[in-house]
Amino acid sequence: MPKDDMLGPYSEKVMDHFMNPRNMGEIKDADAVGTVGNPACGDVMRLYLKVSDDKILDAKFKTFGCGAAIATSSMATEMIKGKTVDESLKITNEAVAEALDGLPANKMHCSVLAQEAIEAAINNYKEKSAKKQTSDEK
Ligand code: FES
Repeated sequence: MPKDDMLGPYSEKVMDHFMNPRNMGEIKDADAVGTVGNPACGDVMRLYLKVSDDKILDAKFKTFGCGAAIATSSMATEMIKGKTVDESLKITNEAVAEALDGLPANKMHCSVLAQEAIEAAINNYKEKSAKKQTSDEK
């Protein structure tokens, strides 16, 4: 089969991250976890973060979803590792799709899952650190 038929509408990068996802799995002692679902298709992504001093040291994901959702989850974890939580919040789903050399228009909604999972996990981290601070002050 010619290579282009295999790729269909997907870039080589999308196929690479789909076939060999980076950072797939879970972090047992994660500092934050975010789970989001895509109401349009029912797919779900869970993101685990290891954070120290507001910097993301490690990120892993589990995604029950389509190929584009797996590829964007994989790319999103690569993009946030080493960034601060606030820098990571600025990553848009378009930026994740762009880093994968684009997604077909009808699969753009899949990249929203990755962006929302980042947001959910970081909110979880912020809530936890706020609680920790209040209990430290007591
Ligand atoms: Fe559900 Fe792609 S079809 S995230």
